Amino acid sequence: MPDADPATGFVSLVSAGPGDPELLTLKAVNRLALADVVLFDDLASGPVLDHVNPKAELISVGKRAGRPSARQEHVNMQLVSHAQMGRRVVRLKSGDSGIFGRLEEELIALTEAGIPFEIIPGVTSASAAAAAAGIPLTRRLTARRLQFVTGADVTGQLPDDINWTAIADPKVTTVVFMGQRSFPELAKGLRAHGLPGSTPALFAEAVGHPHQRLLRTTVEELARMLQDAQVTQPGLILYGPLAFSESEKTLIK
Ligand SMILES: C[S@@+](CC[C@H](N)C(=O)[O-])C[C@H]1O[C@@H](n2cnc3c(N)ncnc32)[C@H](O)[C@@H]1O
Repeated sequence: MPDADPATGFVSLVSAGPGDPELLTLKAVNRLALADVVLFDDLASGPVLDHVNPKAELISVGKRAGRPSARQEHVNMQLVSHAQMGRRVVRLKSGDSGIFGRLEEELIALTEAGIPFEIIPGVTSASAAAAAAGIPLTRRLTARRLQFVTGADVTGQLPDDINWTAIADPKVTTVVFMGQRSFPELAKGLRAHGLPGSTPALFAEAVGHPHQRLLRTTVEELARMLQDAQVTQPGLILYGPLAFSESEKTLIK
C-alpha cells in the first residue's frame, strides 16, 4: 500500500470475496492489516474482519437488500473525509468489488476529491458458488458464454430493460445476483422467451459462510420455491447447461 499523503490520504477499494476468509487475496489481507480505518458492507463482514489492524477504526456502512443502509452519498462522503485526514482507508466490499458493487460511484467521488486510490480485485460469489457446487461456470461444448445479471434495479424490482434473448439463451451459463425476490417473475419471462422450465438451476445461499446452502434444481422448481420465500441470506441463482444432471435435484450442502 503506498504511503498515505497527509493531505489526501489513500483509499484501497478491497474485494473481500464471498465471506470465507481463506478466499481473501494476499493483497486484501495486507491492506486490511495496514488500514487506519475500514468502511465495510454487511456482506463484507464476519471473519474477514479478523484480518483488520486491531488499531483501525471499523465503520459499518452496511448495505443489504431489504434492510436500512447508509445512503451512497453518505458512504462517498465518509470515504473522502477519512482520506482527507491523511488516513489509510480501506473500503471493503463483498465478492469482487467491480461486480454489482456500486464501485463507480465511489471512484467518481474519490477522483473528484483528488484522492489517490487502488482497486484490489477478489473472488466473486459467482465463482465461489460454482466451486462450492463442484461445477465449472463454462463448458467447452455447451456453455461458451457466461453472463452475470442483476435481478433487481435501483428500486429493488426486476429491471424493465432486460435483454430477454440473451438471458433465455440455453447455451449460456447465467448467474443472477440479487434475484431471489424477482426470480418467479424472471422465470415467467424466460419461459415466454423459450427457455425450458426443466433447465438446470443452482440456488446458492450464503456461500463461504458456515450456514452455506446449495440446492440443485430446475428453473421451474426454483421459481416455485422462491414464490413466497422469506429472503434472509444473500443468494445467487445460476441456470443454464450446468454440469450436473437434470435429474439430480438434491440439497447438496
Ligand atoms: C451488491 S451484490 C455484490 C456482489 C459481489 N460484488 C460479488 O462479486 O459477489 C450482492 C449480491 O451478491 C450475491 N452474493 C454476495 N455474497 C454472496 C454469498 N456469500 N453467497 C451468495 N450470494 C452472494 C447475492 O446475490 C447478493 O444479493
